[in-house]
Amino acid sequence: MKIRLATSMDIPELTELKKPQKEEYRKKFYENQINRLKEMENDESIYLVGEMNNKIIAHLLLKLKGIPSESGYPNINDLYVAEQERNKGYGSELISKAEEIAREKGYTKISLAVNPTLNPKAMALYEHVGYVKTSTKPYVDGIYDGVEDWCIDMVKKLS
Ligand SMILES: CC(C)(COP(=O)(O)OP(=O)(O)OC[C@H]1O[C@@H](n2cnc3c(N)ncnc32)[C@H](O)[C@@H]1OP(=O)(O)O)[C@@H](O)C(=O)NCCC(=O)NCCS
Repeated sequence: MKIRLATSMDIPELTELKKPQKEEYRKKFYENQINRLKEMENDESIYLVGEMNNKIIAHLLLKLKGIPSESGYPNINDLYVAEQERNKGYGSELISKAEEIAREKGYTKISLAVNPTLNPKAMALYEHVGYVKTSTKPYVDGIYDGVEDWCIDMVKKLS
């Protein structure tokens, strides 16, 4: 997989990556892409895409200043791999690239958040690549489609 920075040319493809079924989701995903590119222009985030045969199959948003519960160092946000491309190591590759970027920028820690109840597979992957829970008590990370997303934070020390 080739990993590179997202550009405005990618917006249509990135909008469709999660296969939005409803127009309201498509519109929201589209707006998200615009916001992410703006954040990258402002040096707040790094938006990585993974490509195979010139087709985008994955993305990861690295928020450089972190999130309120783990601030001051980068946070891995919205890691996503297209369904048919999962379990081939691409998610791990993107995480590793995000860690490399954080390290190069002088950070010694990196975090991410996961819903341990709804996403035990993702949590197992994060543990496998060295992330450790900072607390077992989940908090509401956001409300998506009217449903609360209960997450825990995980942190990795970068050596
Ligand atoms: C979570 C997600 C990003 C993982 O991406 P992925 O590309 O499937 O991840 P990987 O392939 O690197 O790792 C998945 C598992 O496959 C294994 N694997 C890695 N390379 C492999 C290979 N070449 N062959 C077989 N298995 C492999 C890994 O060891 C890992 O197992 P583990 O969980 O026991 O450690 C993906 O499932 C996804 O997009 N899910 C929906 C969105 C989501 O939940 N995002 C996370 C929000 S917190």
